[in-house]
Amino acid sequence: MNDDIQKKRHEYSLKELNEHDVNPDPFVQFDTWFKIALDADLPDANAMTLATVNSDGKPTARILLLKDYSKDGYCFFTNYRSKKGEDIELNPFGAMVFFWPQLEKQIRIEGRIEKLNPEHSSVYFMARPVGSRRAAAVSPQSTILTSRAELENAIEKFKNEYGDEFNRPDYWGGYKLIPNKFEFWQGRESRLNDRIEFVIEKENWRFHRLAP
Ligand SMILES: Cc1cc2nc3c(=O)[nH]c(=O)nc-3n(C[C@H](O)[C@H](O)[C@H](O)COP(=O)(O)O)c2cc1C
Repeated sequence: MNDDIQKKRHEYSLKELNEHDVNPDPFVQFDTWFKIALDADLPDANAMTLATVNSDGKPTARILLLKDYSKDGYCFFTNYRSKKGEDIELNPFGAMVFFWPQLEKQIRIEGRIEKLNPEHSSVYFMARPVGSRRAAAVSPQSTILTSRAELENAIEKFKNEYGDEFNRPDYWGGYKLIPNKFEFWQGRESRLNDRIEFVIEKENWRFHRLAP
């Protein structure tokens, strides 16, 4: 057993989350907490973990950046041929987790995942800096490379061929996760944390408290 890790203890004491201060609309509650995280100037406040499941029922999780959100869903951008792209193709459900340690807050969202429409993906692609656009177009995300040089050479070749003017490739774009569940978690003293879960029933959201 690792003694150093076992002795590591942090008391959560910053805030509370009560039934009377949670917004009955989980999209509004998300917006409130997300803006607190943005205003706190946290590094990568829009970073979250996305878990997907493959055709054998095995989960994979990775960090992604949330790039947009509304009642339509929570959006991220990636390579459609990546591991996550393959998972989503076969099993279009996922789970997102945001954790802001400085705020002692966690948000979990679960739901169905759909591709964004191609126009939306293209608008976002064209708004990216050219280097990021080139990387998205050239990198065969999640495939094995023989070396870093292989990737750098492919970037150089692409630069020579297309310069700075090229469109979004059809294998790169956005997805949205359409929530059917949210959980808002606020750390409290002695691990008696507040957890408010929202579920949708007949198109109405209702919430309840979960045991920590
Ligand atoms: C802070 C951070 C932000 C990231 N943002 C993205 C992103 O927005 N899109 C993306 O495809 N990968 C992003 N990645 C890389 C992913 O974690 C992952 O390595 C990649 O998407 C391949 O995942 P997959 O093999 O499961 O498909 C990010 C990684 C980190 C650490």
